Amino acid sequence: RTKPCRLVEIEQHTDDRGKLSVVEGGSTVGFPIRRVYYLHDTRSGTERGGHAHRALEQLIIAVHGSFTVRLDDGRQRAEYHLDDPGTGLYVGPMVWRDLVDFSAHGVCLVLASQHYDESDYYRNYDDFLRDV
Ligand code: TYD
Repeated sequence: RTKPCRLVEIEQHTDDRGKLSVVEGGSTVGFPIRRVYYLHDTRSGTERGGHAHRALEQLIIAVHGSFTVRLDDGRQRAEYHLDDPGTGLYVGPMVWRDLVDFSAHGVCLVLASQHYDESDYYRNYDDFLRDV
């Protein structure tokens, strides 16, 4: 069920007014976007995440500031420092993620393939490893 995590380039329209960045479900990301949430008013050094999902797919974007995403699929670990609104990180099912090292006021935008469902979460790392 694990799908490879990867950086995704986001379409940008730049002119002298600034930049406009676009994510479309089904093309920029392969999944339909059913939920959008964002982490904001973050304190410098804040840590979040600490879970995996059974089925959920997500695109994670640092729309302001920066943070680091640590990924672990039970076999391999990878770390991405996100600081560019023009690049998203696709995270598929069955990947443990920790979000660390938030810059002050960093904003993490998450586009998700499903509505919120607590039963889709692994919040215990050992339970996650057992099912990998
Ligand atoms: P939590 O999973 O701790 O957030 P993070 O992944 O950033 O560490 O979620 C914080 C609270 O918000 C928790 O009580 C669950 C709730 N929540 C929702 O009600 N709906 C949602 O879509 C999300 C992502 C969280």
